[in-house]
Amino acid sequence: MSRVYNFSAGPAVMPEEVLREAADEMLDYQGTGMSVMEMSHRSKAFEKIINEAEQDLRDLMQIPDNYKVLFMQGGAHLQFAAIPMNLMKNKVADYIITGQWAKKAFKEAQIYGKANAIASSEDETFSYIPDCSDLPVSPDADYVYICENNTIYGTKFHTLPNTKGKTLVSDISSCFLSEPVDVSKYGLVYGGVQKNVGPAGMAIVIIREDLITEDVLPYTPTYMKYKIHADANSLYNTPNCYCIYMCGKVFKWLKKQGGLEVMKARNEEKAKVLYDFLDSSKLFKGTVRKEDRSIMNVPFVTGDKDLDAKFIKEATEAGFVNLKGHRTVGGMRASIYNAMPIEGVRALVEFMKKFEEEN
Ligand SMILES: Cc1ncc(COP(=O)(O)O)c(C=O)c1O
Repeated sequence: MSRVYNFSAGPAVMPEEVLREAADEMLDYQGTGMSVMEMSHRSKAFEKIINEAEQDLRDLMQIPDNYKVLFMQGGAHLQFAAIPMNLMKNKVADYIITGQWAKKAFKEAQIYGKANAIASSEDETFSYIPDCSDLPVSPDADYVYICENNTIYGTKFHTLPNTKGKTLVSDISSCFLSEPVDVSKYGLVYGGVQKNVGPAGMAIVIIREDLITEDVLPYTPTYMKYKIHADANSLYNTPNCYCIYMCGKVFKWLKKQGGLEVMKARNEEKAKVLYDFLDSSKLFKGTVRKEDRSIMNVPFVTGDKDLDAKFIKEATEAGFVNLKGHRTVGGMRASIYNAMPIEGVRALVEFMKKFEEEN
């Protein structure tokens, strides 16, 4: 068996220890004689899995008691609609457009009410985070929406926007559990899990209880109502059981590593190895304004499309895979989530140095 260094933006690298544990338990989960895939979601064994997963996540993120944790199917995209359907009481919301995912969420919200783009960095291909200290927040906005870490462009909000008292809603899909967060600053924070947490097919929504009401937009499908999931502890219907089980394993792995402070230090160290090299290289350069750089997704280019393609080809052959940048940015992107070991980043930089010497 040989494992590659997988720099995919998502679905992405998982901790090897977690994969091994899941493999060991595949045919017989803890003496039940069956796989978690074969188990009733109403069984005692699964009840323990989901309850522990929620508690471990609460411990890791220090989620206050007045927030609910919802394990919902459908990935982040379903939330692009669920958020306005559940939260647009005045039918007005403000969006900060820092990339394709924020823009898609914004467009989806326009179906349901008046969504305003109150800031954008599209003028420079989303390579920076706009100044959000004094935005024209709408007086009747139900919430202000951000995509906190922009997976495609490699930017991150290092300071949250001044929402002027309005509820902050944040998509943290690609920075989930990469560092500590103060959940109390948000009304709702959510992410698709397939980047930093687990396999694809689910989103985790962390929502303040007062935002969970029966008063949702007409025609909101039952499955999309937060209250349905909150009241049923995420067991309203058959959830993505195996995904919850895998996420739960990752939470336990994160706790064993020392929690989110430790992950933050590790992630910063990994990102520094790559950014320091990019800043000193004559061939490769980062595409993002320095103060807005993400420590999870690092896009870079050579400035020459053919050379980019040559690099990606040779890197793949050398075992550094999924480095191709998003089609809207071009070049390369290294996603260095929690499960990417620092050895992988160091090895990539060594490979880039060698490529630079030879080209
Ligand atoms: C920040 C962010 N939001 C949303 C999405 C869309 O997620 P999904 O495919 O789970 O709908 C992605 C990537 O896939 C993402 O990186």
